[in-house]
Amino acid sequence: MNQDEKKSSAARASLDYVVDGVVLGVGTGSTVNKLIDMLPEVRNRISAVVSSSKATTALLENLDFEVSTLNSVGDIDVYIDGADEATKHRHLVKGGGGALTREKVLAGAARKFVCIIDDGKQVGMLGDFPLPVEVIPMAQSFVARKMVKMRGQPIWRENFVTDNGNHILDVHNLSITNPLEMETRINQIPGVVTVGIFAHRPADVLIIGGDSGVRVIGK
Ligand code: A5P
Repeated sequence: MNQDEKKSSAARASLDYVVDGVVLGVGTGSTVNKLIDMLPEVRNRISAVVSSSKATTALLENLDFEVSTLNSVGDIDVYIDGADEATKHRHLVKGGGGALTREKVLAGAARKFVCIIDDGKQVGMLGDFPLPVEVIPMAQSFVARKMVKMRGQPIWRENFVTDNGNHILDVHNLSITNPLEMETRINQIPGVVTVGIFAHRPADVLIIGGDSGVRVIGK
Protein backbone atom coordinates (compact mmCIF):
# COMPACT_ATOMS: atom_id res chain seq x y z
CA MET A 1 0.00 0.00 0.00
CA ASN A 2 1.30 3.46 -0.78
CA GLN A 3 1.09 6.39 1.64
CA ASP A 4 -2.00 7.77 -0.03
CA GLU A 5 -3.84 4.47 0.34
CA LYS A 6 -2.78 4.22 3.98
CA LYS A 7 -4.19 7.71 4.63
CA SER A 8 -7.43 6.71 2.92
CA SER A 9 -7.78 3.53 4.95
CA ALA A 10 -7.28 5.43 8.23
CA ALA A 11 -9.80 8.04 7.07
CA ARG A 12 -12.33 5.36 6.14
CA ALA A 13 -11.95 3.63 9.53
CA SER A 14 -12.69 6.94 11.27
CA LEU A 15 -16.18 6.98 9.68
CA ASP A 16 -17.18 4.50 12.42
CA TYR A 17 -16.98 7.44 14.85
CA VAL A 18 -19.32 9.56 12.77
CA VAL A 19 -22.39 8.29 14.60
CA ASP A 20 -26.02 9.37 14.24
CA GLY A 21 -26.66 12.98 15.27
CA VAL A 22 -22.98 13.79 15.74
CA VAL A 23 -21.60 17.31 16.05
CA LEU A 24 -18.42 16.73 14.08
CA GLY A 25 -15.17 18.68 14.13
CA VAL A 26 -13.02 18.37 11.02
CA GLY A 27 -9.25 18.94 11.04
CA THR A 28 -6.87 20.05 8.32
CA GLY A 29 -4.41 18.35 6.00
CA SER A 30 -4.05 15.74 3.30
CA THR A 31 -5.26 12.84 5.48
CA VAL A 32 -8.37 14.70 6.60
CA ASN A 33 -8.99 15.69 2.98
CA LYS A 34 -9.54 11.98 2.28
CA LEU A 35 -12.12 11.94 5.05
CA ILE A 36 -13.82 15.07 3.72
CA ASP A 37 -14.26 13.35 0.35
CA MET A 38 -16.03 10.47 2.16
CA LEU A 39 -18.30 12.62 4.34
CA PRO A 40 -21.14 12.87 1.77
CA GLU A 41 -21.62 9.09 2.30
CA VAL A 42 -22.59 9.77 5.95
CA ARG A 43 -24.17 13.20 5.51
CA ASN A 44 -27.45 12.12 7.11
CA ARG A 45 -25.69 11.19 10.37
CA ILE A 46 -24.13 14.64 10.87
CA SER A 47 -26.15 17.23 12.78
CA ALA A 48 -23.50 19.97 12.59
CA VAL A 49 -19.95 20.32 11.33
CA VAL A 50 -17.23 22.66 12.62
CA SER A 51 -14.00 23.32 10.74
CA SER A 52 -10.41 23.90 11.92
CA SER A 53 -9.28 26.08 9.00
CA LYS A 54 -10.32 28.20 6.06
CA ALA A 55 -9.02 25.46 3.73
CA THR A 56 -11.20 22.79 5.33
CA THR A 57 -14.21 25.11 5.36
CA ALA A 58 -13.81 25.69 1.62
CA LEU A 59 -13.67 21.93 0.94
CA LEU A 60 -16.72 21.23 3.11
CA GLU A 61 -18.74 24.03 1.55
CA ASN A 62 -17.82 22.75 -1.86
CA LEU A 63 -19.58 19.52 -0.89
CA ASP A 64 -22.64 21.49 0.26
CA PHE A 65 -22.00 21.14 3.99
CA GLU A 66 -23.07 24.14 6.02
CA VAL A 67 -20.17 24.88 8.38
CA SER A 68 -21.13 26.00 11.90
CA THR A 69 -19.01 28.06 14.27
CA LEU A 70 -17.76 26.52 17.50
CA ASN A 71 -19.48 29.32 19.38
CA SER A 72 -22.85 28.32 17.95
CA VAL A 73 -22.61 24.55 18.59
CA GLY A 74 -21.02 24.44 22.05
CA ASP A 75 -18.96 21.28 22.54
CA ILE A 76 -18.07 18.91 19.73
CA ASP A 77 -18.92 15.20 19.99
CA VAL A 78 -16.11 13.92 17.79
CA TYR A 79 -13.10 15.71 16.34
CA ILE A 80 -11.18 13.95 13.56
CA ASP A 81 -7.77 15.22 12.48
CA GLY A 82 -4.38 14.10 11.22
CA ALA A 83 -0.96 14.65 12.76
CA ASP A 84 2.66 15.07 11.73
CA GLU A 85 3.97 12.72 14.43
CA ALA A 86 2.28 10.44 16.96
CA THR A 87 3.53 8.25 19.80
CA LYS A 88 1.91 5.16 21.27
CA HIS A 89 0.80 7.40 24.17
CA ARG A 90 -1.24 9.31 21.56
CA HIS A 91 0.86 12.44 22.08
CA LEU A 92 1.09 14.37 18.82
CA VAL A 93 2.98 17.03 16.92
CA LYS A 94 0.66 18.99 14.65
CA GLY A 95 0.77 22.19 12.65
CA GLY A 96 2.63 21.16 9.51
CA GLY A 97 -0.22 22.85 7.64
CA GLY A 98 -0.20 25.82 10.02
CA ALA A 99 -3.69 25.25 11.44
CA LEU A 100 -2.51 24.17 14.90
CA THR A 101 -4.27 26.81 17.01
CA ARG A 102 -7.78 26.19 15.71
CA GLU A 103 -7.02 22.46 15.74
CA LYS A 104 -6.06 22.65 19.40
CA VAL A 105 -9.22 24.57 20.21
CA LEU A 106 -11.41 21.97 18.48
CA ALA A 107 -9.53 19.08 20.12
CA GLY A 108 -10.01 20.79 23.48
CA ALA A 109 -13.74 21.23 22.85
CA ALA A 110 -14.21 17.62 21.71
CA ARG A 111 -15.56 14.78 23.80
CA LYS A 112 -13.60 12.40 21.58
CA PHE A 113 -10.51 13.19 19.50
CA VAL A 114 -9.81 10.67 16.75
CA CYS A 115 -6.44 11.05 15.06
CA ILE A 116 -5.89 9.48 11.63
CA ILE A 117 -2.36 8.87 10.30
CA ASP A 118 -0.38 6.64 8.00
CA ASP A 119 2.24 4.48 9.69
CA GLY A 120 5.08 6.80 8.58
CA LYS A 121 3.93 9.28 11.26
CA GLN A 122 4.48 6.88 14.15
CA VAL A 123 7.51 7.74 16.27
CA GLY A 124 9.11 6.56 19.52
CA MET A 125 9.78 10.15 20.59
CA LEU A 126 8.39 13.44 19.22
CA GLY A 127 10.75 16.00 17.71
CA ASP A 128 12.11 14.76 14.39
CA PHE A 129 9.40 16.77 12.65
CA PRO A 130 10.21 20.48 13.13
CA LEU A 131 7.93 21.72 15.89
CA PRO A 132 5.47 24.41 14.67
CA VAL A 133 4.90 27.33 17.05
CA GLU A 134 2.34 30.00 16.14
CA VAL A 135 3.50 33.44 17.32
CA ILE A 136 2.10 36.93 17.07
CA PRO A 137 4.25 38.75 14.50
CA MET A 138 5.78 41.37 16.86
CA ALA A 139 7.05 38.61 19.18
CA GLN A 140 8.63 36.46 16.48
CA SER A 141 12.30 37.30 17.19
CA PHE A 142 11.83 37.22 20.96
CA VAL A 143 10.22 33.78 20.82
CA ALA A 144 12.90 32.58 18.39
CA ARG A 145 15.62 33.56 20.91
CA LYS A 146 13.79 31.65 23.64
CA MET A 147 13.69 28.59 21.37
CA VAL A 148 17.45 28.82 20.85
CA LYS A 149 17.90 28.89 24.65
CA MET A 150 15.92 25.63 24.70
CA ARG A 151 18.48 24.24 22.21
CA GLY A 152 16.11 24.35 19.24
CA GLN A 153 16.78 25.91 15.84
CA PRO A 154 13.81 28.05 14.89
CA ILE A 155 13.15 28.77 11.22
CA TRP A 156 10.55 31.36 10.27
CA ARG A 157 8.02 29.86 7.82
CA GLU A 158 8.43 32.45 5.09
CA ASN A 159 5.49 33.89 3.17
CA PHE A 160 3.04 32.14 5.45
CA VAL A 161 0.33 33.79 7.54
CA THR A 162 -2.00 31.66 9.66
CA ASP A 163 -5.79 31.92 9.50
CA ASN A 164 -5.44 34.02 12.67
CA GLY A 165 -3.05 36.51 11.07
CA ASN A 166 0.06 35.19 12.83
CA HIS A 167 3.44 33.69 11.93
CA ILE A 168 4.87 30.20 12.37
CA LEU A 169 8.31 29.27 13.71
CA ASP A 170 9.33 25.72 12.81
CA VAL A 171 11.71 24.62 15.54
CA HIS A 172 14.24 21.99 14.49
CA ASN A 173 16.28 19.59 16.62
CA LEU A 174 14.33 19.76 19.87
CA SER A 175 14.37 16.54 21.86
CA ILE A 176 10.89 16.31 23.24
CA THR A 177 11.55 13.79 26.00
CA ASN A 178 8.74 15.17 28.15
CA PRO A 179 5.93 16.39 25.85
CA LEU A 180 3.70 17.56 28.72
CA GLU A 181 6.43 19.70 30.26
CA MET A 182 7.58 21.13 26.92
CA GLU A 183 4.04 21.98 25.83
CA THR A 184 3.51 23.94 29.04
CA ARG A 185 6.92 25.61 28.87
CA ILE A 186 6.60 26.85 25.30
CA ASN A 187 2.99 27.93 25.72
CA GLN A 188 4.06 30.14 28.63
CA ILE A 189 6.41 32.27 26.52
CA PRO A 190 4.74 35.66 25.91
CA GLY A 191 3.81 36.02 22.26
CA VAL A 192 3.29 32.31 21.68
CA VAL A 193 -0.26 31.65 20.56
CA THR A 194 0.06 27.85 20.50
CA VAL A 195 2.75 25.21 20.28
CA GLY A 196 2.07 22.18 18.07
CA ILE A 197 2.57 19.62 20.85
CA PHE A 198 -0.73 17.93 21.69
CA ALA A 199 0.06 16.16 24.98
CA HIS A 200 -2.18 17.79 27.58
CA ARG A 201 -5.05 17.01 25.23
CA PRO A 202 -3.80 13.89 23.41
CA ALA A 203 -5.84 11.93 20.89
CA ASP A 204 -8.30 9.49 22.48
CA VAL A 205 -8.09 7.19 19.50
CA LEU A 206 -5.19 6.83 17.08
CA ILE A 207 -6.04 5.10 13.79
CA ILE A 208 -2.92 4.08 11.88
CA GLY A 209 -3.13 3.05 8.25
CA GLY A 210 -0.46 0.49 7.36
CA ASP A 211 0.34 -2.24 4.85
CA SER A 212 -1.95 -4.77 6.50
CA GLY A 213 -4.91 -2.46 7.13
CA VAL A 214 -5.58 -0.21 10.12
CA ARG A 215 -4.40 -0.49 13.70
CA VAL A 216 -6.28 1.33 16.44
CA ILE A 217 -4.72 2.55 19.70
CA GLY A 218 -7.11 3.78 22.41
CA LYS A 219 -10.87 3.86 22.24
C1 A5P B 1 -2.39 21.04 9.99
O1 A5P B 1 -1.95 22.21 10.58
C2 A5P B 1 -1.72 19.88 10.64
O2 A5P B 1 -1.80 19.82 12.00
C3 A5P B 1 -2.17 18.57 10.04
O3 A5P B 1 -3.17 17.99 10.80
C4 A5P B 1 -1.03 17.67 10.01
O4 A5P B 1 0.03 18.42 9.46
C5 A5P B 1 -1.27 16.42 9.19
O5 A5P B 1 -1.33 16.75 7.85
P1 A5P B 1 -1.25 15.65 6.72
O6 A5P B 1 -2.41 14.76 6.90
O7 A5P B 1 -1.29 16.43 5.44
O8 A5P B 1 0.05 14.95 6.89
